[in-house]
Amino acid sequence: MNKPSREEAEKRIVALTESINYHNHLYYQEDRSIISDFEFDQLLEELIALENHYPELKKADSPSQRVGGSITKNFETATHAVRMLSLGNTYSKEELMAFDERVAKGLGHRDYEYFCELKFDGVAISMVYQQGELIRAVTRGDGYKGDVVTENVKTIRTVPLSIQAKEGLPPYLEVRGEIFLPKSGFEKINQVRKSKGENLLANPRNAASGTLKMQDSAVVAKRKLNCYVYQLIADDLSLSKQDEAIEKLRQWGFNVSPTYRNCQNLDEVLAYIDEWRDKRQDLPVETDGVVLKVNDYRQQEELGFTAKIPRWAIAYKYQAESAAATLLSITYQVGRTGAITPVANLSPVSLAGTTVKRASLHNANEIERLDLHEGDTVLVEKGGEIIPKITQVVSERRNRNSKPIAYIDTCPECGTLLERKEGEAKHFCPNEAGCPPQVLGRIEHFVSKRAMDIDSLGTERLRALVQQGYVKDPADLYSLPEKRDDLLGLEISDDQYTKNSDGYLYVSLKKCLYALTHQVTLKEIEEFLQFHETAEQSEKIALFLDTHQKTGKKTNESERWLSRLLEMIQKQTLDHVDDFVPVAYVLAVLLPEAGASVEDLLKLSKNKSSLHDLIIHGGLEVPEQAKDQINKLKGSTFQEGVIKNMMEGIQHSLSQPFPKVLFALGIRNIGENTAILLARHFKNIDELENATDDTLLQINGVGETLVHSIRSFFALEKNKSIIHRLKEKGLHFELFEEEIKQESDKLAGKRILASGKLNHFKRDEIIDFIESHGGTYSKSVSKNLDFIIEGEDMGPSKKEKAVNLGIPLITEEEFLKMCSTK
Ligand code: IVH
Repeated sequence: MNKPSREEAEKRIVALTESINYHNHLYYQEDRSIISDFEFDQLLEELIALENHYPELKKADSPSQRVGGSITKNFETATHAVRMLSLGNTYSKEELMAFDERVAKGLGHRDYEYFCELKFDGVAISMVYQQGELIRAVTRGDGYKGDVVTENVKTIRTVPLSIQAKEGLPPYLEVRGEIFLPKSGFEKINQVRKSKGENLLANPRNAASGTLKMQDSAVVAKRKLNCYVYQLIADDLSLSKQDEAIEKLRQWGFNVSPTYRNCQNLDEVLAYIDEWRDKRQDLPVETDGVVLKVNDYRQQEELGFTAKIPRWAIAYKYQAESAAATLLSITYQVGRTGAITPVANLSPVSLAGTTVKRASLHNANEIERLDLHEGDTVLVEKGGEIIPKITQVVSERRNRNSKPIAYIDTCPECGTLLERKEGEAKHFCPNEAGCPPQVLGRIEHFVSKRAMDIDSLGTERLRALVQQGYVKDPADLYSLPEKRDDLLGLEISDDQYTKNSDGYLYVSLKKCLYALTHQVTLKEIEEFLQFHETAEQSEKIALFLDTHQKTGKKTNESERWLSRLLEMIQKQTLDHVDDFVPVAYVLAVLLPEAGASVEDLLKLSKNKSSLHDLIIHGGLEVPEQAKDQINKLKGSTFQEGVIKNMMEGIQHSLSQPFPKVLFALGIRNIGENTAILLARHFKNIDELENATDDTLLQINGVGETLVHSIRSFFALEKNKSIIHRLKEKGLHFELFEEEIKQESDKLAGKRILASGKLNHFKRDEIIDFIESHGGTYSKSVSKNLDFIIEGEDMGPSKKEKAVNLGIPLITEEEFLKMCSTK
């Protein structure tokens, strides 16, 4: 273009600006266009060229500002001036009625109205304007602070870069709203991607959120995001209601969804909800419910907030329909009691705003009832519960050759043949003594507060110790100090692992990609996977490789690793579990020199629980140069401090008295109180073991069932050996002198309960006290009680029951007097 005169340029710039703004308005507000994309781009290019000739003519709010072009390497974070809260959710009319009652009660009258609006399913954004100019746009983040995405938000054509009406405009204001990708734009993008053989974007919301976090704003501009605003925050505004604020925002040029309505009462709200249930499908934006807010600001203030959500607003969510997914494989979970629960791994589908990848199948009957076949297309539904369920198989979509699901017959954790008792729905692993989750259950009881009280051995740490074979029974805990060196480097977290139905170990794709690259952070990988959430596994890897090749962080090594992994995944014959890959594949990629074939590595990874486990127990050599990558693949590991802390806890537990030790053994039907009773009676474990049935039955409080449990426990050599080893380690299997000594027999034969807060005793102390005076403590109110010690704030229902049963209630003082030996 020849350089036009300044005057010509000025005129043309005004005309072009007007025309472009008009076409933008048609496109975004009216969802139509009268010129082609190409023609539109030409207008824009002409404008940009003119502005380049005369930079001083470029206005801050010129449409050329929205084409993007700046690259944001890392998003800075900014703190929100006012915390960005979320809303309470409801799914039913009853809950809405309860909300309305709370509002009426909070205000003390019914003189209020609701402002109703649809709940847009996009990404929340906060936009800050200073002197009318957009200076910052920040994502919701954790509510306190979010990412600064100003450059990307500027490409959204319905977001004013500058508010024209300067009069009465507060110098500083914040507008909040929801950024979304219109459904039509979403479909267009996917059509193009499909024709290019690229993977499809999951849903408009994910696409919007991914787009907003793109580093190149020019690419963002092409995605044509849109934004509805729903909240205005500013001081000194002469506004008193939400609907006035919305109208003001509209006048200032913001995009406001025209769907809002004031409702005078709950019936009108319910009518609004019903009206939009189907009609919302015709809106340009995905919506998932209705938001209702008390319209009057003063009333909002009066109602205030709870810790996280306002008391003056709530979201009603439309119930999710069901969605179709493909059954990829089934994983079998083993519980603490040995019960097996099958879980379906599904191709990811979005349902009620979340992505569903797994569904519970409960037991073998459920699989039979559904007549589930390999690779079936199934319908998943998400009810009130968190775990979705499969409601039916879409049999028309079944592949003719597909086989019915064959239920496993061995335990995926320990390989033992499973059992199923007559009339029981669940299968069980009978290997109580050796199956890791079952062992874990018992050890957890052993170390629990009321037993050996080793609080440095939390579930995660114990699980690591049990799964990796360091602890098989309680006595092993006391040998841990000798194995200190081996423990260093042991993996703790296990949510990065899973096993398939044959017991082969899988590791999360996230960790795998992390290990196969250099200088890429876990967070970056997480974001990448989130963005491509619904792509197939091999597509994810292919895309990752592709993206990785374009960054400066790739190395020949990482490229080779990723390509090799991709090859293996494409040929994968093992079960597919979304977001997990067989550990053996990753090792084959990272350790080609280890001399082990994929088949060898697979064998090594069977029934193992972690990489550490596999390497130590599989005798795998990890060459020095691969150590870094292998460490990246591992979960977090035991460090010196943790180990020291565990050892101290274990050492400390040696001083627990006999009744606690007896309780810790986990003999069926021996609860805390029975343990005390038996310990006091027999004084040591040998006496208990050798007691005849008759001796046992003579004790007040011991019945046939308990006798049977005691007998079965001591009948097992294994248990006797555990006790023997624990004794050797110094645990107390007999009462201390002072415990044997009875204070008095003033309470002999009395059954007593204490309820409410006592002044002289803590919970456990009162029990000891009663017993040291020859009485027995009882846990519940029953007619067998001799009396109840009534503390402060005794529960009214307990009290009523006691009175009805005619049990005497005495005060703590009276009780103390009763026991006094003076
Ligand atoms: S009002 C105090 N109105 O829903 C909270 N929020 O769960 C005020 N959202 O983070 C929020 N449409 O991103 C409001 N019409 C609407 C909305 C809406 C979508 C989102 C918003 C918020 C989330 C709360």
